[in-house]
Amino acid sequence: MMPAAPSVGLLAKGLTVLLASLSLANPVVAGALPPRSDSKSCGNGMCNAAMPNPPRRIGFMLPRAFDIIDVFGPLEVLQAVSRKTHLEMFMLGRTLDPVTTEPVSASMNQFNSSFYPTFNPTHTYADNPPIDVLVVPGGAAARSPDLGPEIEYIKKVFPSLQYLITICTGAGIAAQSGVLDGHRATTNKAAWNTMTPMGPKVKWVSPARWVEDGKVWSSSGVTAGIDLAFEFVRQKYENGSALVESISGSIEHTVITDWRDDPWSAKFGIPPSN
Ligand SMILES: *[C@@H]1O[C@H](CO)[C@@H](O)[C@H](O)[C@H]1NC(C)=O
Ligand SMILES: *[C@@H]1O[C@H](CO)[C@@H](O)[C@H](O)[C@H]1NC(C)=O
Repeated sequence: MMPAAPSVGLLAKGLTVLLASLSLANPVVAGALPPRSDSKSCGNGMCNAAMPNPPRRIGFMLPRAFDIIDVFGPLEVLQAVSRKTHLEMFMLGRTLDPVTTEPVSASMNQFNSSFYPTFNPTHTYADNPPIDVLVVPGGAAARSPDLGPEIEYIKKVFPSLQYLITICTGAGIAAQSGVLDGHRATTNKAAWNTMTPMGPKVKWVSPARWVEDGKVWSSSGVTAGIDLAFEFVRQKYENGSALVESISGSIEHTVITDWRDDPWSAKFGIPPSN
């Protein structure tokens, strides 16, 4: 007797689990992903033959008390890119409930200010939607004692990502999941001494506005994420240099193009490393 046919949803979930376990077991298939949902749009000239695999599905992690610019700086840049080529955005939270930027601990809001906006996730970590890039922001979130679901999700999704991008102290969150071990990475120089012990096996780089190390890209503090995003666009998307030129002009941002251009390392007394 055949058991009742499982639902399509269950089958899809089973496939995802199977792919995830294959990815963990065998690094050769780590890049394997389900078919791109934008394959139709690639047929009508929106994709570039010369750059066949630009990252199109961008996930942004929304841990409680994340720094706003860490998410919305890169998102601003990529949203402009999305007007020139097909991109899909995924806002990832523990649940679909709005995520507040208010710190968990009252001691981090000692004047009881009501100055914390909320943002709506589009997917949960458990949904595990197929994404090419995960952006991990920092902020007060990185000092939270309760990051279990975020750390588990980063660990789970990392093998199937094209790129993991950490912004600011998001590197501390990613480091706690172990995926930065052995990688060169940087983080906010003002938070260096708090963040770097979260990843004792990470090759922390100073000075650095941002660091590229294979599939791991990491930026220094907050606004450095905007410069990282511009460099990412320049390298990964069709006509990237022209895109950077036009987007930076329209938002009137003076892009720092040298990853070593980091006055904050000296300012905060962080010795050169890696
Ligand atoms: C903090 O402010 C909220 C209103 O925003 C108020 O309801 C609450 O009682 C205040 N808490 C303290 C400890 O003052
Ligand atoms: C590249 O971008 C520039 C400036 O936006 C535009 O003029 C040019 O047509 C673009 N080239 C391609 C191949 O899309």
